[in-house]
Amino acid sequence: DWNPGNVIADQVAAIRAQVGDARVICGLSGGVDSSVAAALVQKAVGDQLTCVFVDHGLLRTGEAEQVEKDFVAATGVKLMVVDARERFLDALAGVSDPETKRKIIGREFIRVFEDAAREVVADAGAHGEDVKFLVQGTLYPDVVESGGGEGAANIKSHHNVGGLPDDLQFELVEPLRALFKDEVRAVGLELGVPEGIVWRQPFPGPGLGIRIVGEVTAERLDTLRAADAIAREELTKAGLDREIWQCPVVLLADVRSVGVQGDGRTYGHPIVLRPVSSEDAMTADWTRLPYDVLATISTRITNEVPEVNRVVLDCTSKPPGTIEWE
Ligand code: XMP
Repeated sequence: DWNPGNVIADQVAAIRAQVGDARVICGLSGGVDSSVAAALVQKAVGDQLTCVFVDHGLLRTGEAEQVEKDFVAATGVKLMVVDARERFLDALAGVSDPETKRKIIGREFIRVFEDAAREVVADAGAHGEDVKFLVQGTLYPDVVESGGGEGAANIKSHHNVGGLPDDLQFELVEPLRALFKDEVRAVGLELGVPEGIVWRQPFPGPGLGIRIVGEVTAERLDTLRAADAIAREELTKAGLDREIWQCPVVLLADVRSVGVQGDGRTYGHPIVLRPVSSEDAMTADWTRLPYDVLATISTRITNEVPEVNRVVLDCTSKPPGTIEWE
């Protein structure tokens, strides 16, 4: 019989057997998956673990703060915060192709981890040994959709599966590799991970970088962040957070349309709302959000975000659409 206590016992034993007394680092994104993976590894090998939070500049409003405060307070993990905003922006300059973006983001993540690992070793002083292991919150659907499962096609290179560089210096620890999201949440609750994190909607590792259709720039990120914050605020206010699986907010940066505001013509960008209902992200239906909530989000975004003059609703299921646009 499946129960979270058994999964924890099995995984703690498996992690100890794999890791021994070596040092481990874990990339923390603030999402459910990496948080639960980190909490499991922390339970298994305690302070052999250092968590690294990479601010890649592709985060949403308030995310860095949530990791720094809530997760650390609840679990007591050692946390290193790396400001890598410039590095990621530079690496993504001029790139519009979705798979190329994913590969670049995956690669830069690993490079940042390698630097962080060296710092962990340096901090440990003369007795510092190399960090041998990297924890990833890879779930079963990630494995399948990146072509790792039996007979599966490569649909997208999720940055934490297909996007890793060939010369990776770490061995991976992936304690959630056999689990679905609802199982991960059950394990997280059992481990005492804060509910605000356990029930957080999924957010992809490559972040807003794959929610800008077109090149990623600092200005476009600011535009998308502002629109996304409004959509999230209104969905929360309407009490819809548990009802929807997630609601990507996408900036069509390469598309412009004509609008009118006040007395003036505008030539701005569309924002796409992509609310979906799902059990495991393998399939999804578009969520029939109440019209008044859609109206409020649309009015606020077009009033408050000057670069945006149109808000559109994505009413496509998965399949044929994927949840994210890239
Ligand atoms: P798609 O777009 O493939 O998304 O239907 C399925 C689920 O996975 C999330 N997603 C990712 N998560 N790294 C992640 O950690 C990624 O590269 C990635 N790409 C998509 C997406 O938000 C959805 O929940």
